[in-house]
Amino acid sequence: MNALPPGAYRPASDRWGPFPRLCANLPEGSLAVVDRKVARLHPSVLQSLRAREPRAIVQLTGGEGAKSFTALEQVLAAGLSLPRSGTLVAIGGGTIGDVSTVAAHLLKRGVRLVQVPTTLLAAVDSSLGGKGAVDLTVRGRVVKNPVGVFHYAEEAWLCPELYTTLSDTQRREGALEAWKMVASLDAKRFRAYTRRPPALQRLVKDARQLKESICAEDPYELQGLRRVLNFGHTFGHVLESVSNFRLSHGDAVGLGMLCALDVGRHLGLTPEDEARQVEEALERGPGVLGRKRTAALLKRADLGEVTELLIADKKTGSAGELRMVLLTAVGSAEVRDVPAEAWRALWPAWLQGKRP
Ligand SMILES: NC(=O)c1ccc[n+]([C@@H]2O[C@H](COP(=O)([O-])OP(=O)(O)OC[C@H]3O[C@@H](n4cnc5c(N)ncnc54)[C@H](O)[C@@H]3O)[C@@H](O)[C@H]2O)c1
Ligand SMILES: [Zn+2]
Repeated sequence: MNALPPGAYRPASDRWGPFPRLCANLPEGSLAVVDRKVARLHPSVLQSLRAREPRAIVQLTGGEGAKSFTALEQVLAAGLSLPRSGTLVAIGGGTIGDVSTVAAHLLKRGVRLVQVPTTLLAAVDSSLGGKGAVDLTVRGRVVKNPVGVFHYAEEAWLCPELYTTLSDTQRREGALEAWKMVASLDAKRFRAYTRRPPALQRLVKDARQLKESICAEDPYELQGLRRVLNFGHTFGHVLESVSNFRLSHGDAVGLGMLCALDVGRHLGLTPEDEARQVEEALERGPGVLGRKRTAALLKRADLGEVTELLIADKKTGSAGELRMVLLTAVGSAEVRDVPAEAWRALWPAWLQGKRP
């Protein structure tokens, strides 16, 4: 273990408990990056950090703005005197986690990273798997995640008390990403979930275990194995874009999963009854927004714009075919090339908010 440089792949090491208890083991002189809102809502976070005599505590406003070069520079400047053996602890949602991952990779060519996800989305997804990225403004337009690193966290601290201040929308979007993993990777758990929706802690543990099992096989995304984690993301990203990012990412992925089920059925890959089971489970469990919402959003765009968005998202091949994650059954996913005609055939039904 000691031979590994900071940030190299290591199996996820998760610690559960109240923040003050876990923070008591933080090495003195660490650098902390904290979501300002979390600091305000949970005063014990700053109190516990200060007790560990950190080198600096950088507070950032959570949201895409935290993934700017300005914010990155602020974190790097605060960490200038951190030794190579030092630790950066990131406390916040996916945006704080992402910018901190990049900073941990750059400081002293790599320092130790501890992730403390405070949103459900960060807990089930972004704080695991080693990826961090910042956004770039090109000709006045913000491009999301074009520059990033792989830098694995040494530990993740999961503190349930921090999730108590999340809104219903924030819970739903985290839950949808978690159900996504179960629906595409684990039939047994999926059946258990449909019988009885899991408590939050169970949901987080299961999702993290599933994501870890995929990342362990392909930690640096060299074999494309991690692509299965993108179930629901092809049309999810389209819906997110046409809503001008007013639709949350998790909600968009929820609707994107319904689109992927339709495409799978249309191609004869996803069995009819299994697709129906997944759709009903997503409605009853995490509460996917309805097909009417997809229709309302798609009415704002035409087929040409959607095709352009898919190309910009690097989701298309040379002949306009779409590379999509489709279900072959509950709990099993495959990456397939989908001819443009196939998804376009579903368009009229999607526009009417109907199941094709
Ligand atoms: N690195 C990866 O593998 C990966 C994977 C998925 C998503 N992401 C990235 O994650 C980001 C989205 O993450 P996010 O949804 O956590 O966004 P976020 O960090 O913007 O947090 C969302 C909002 O919740 C607030 N918040 C955070 N913790 C809270 C708490 N405990 N109580 C109340 N409010 C709280 C934040 O201040 C912010 O306003 C995107 O930038 C996305 O690109 C990264
Ligand atoms: Zn996602």
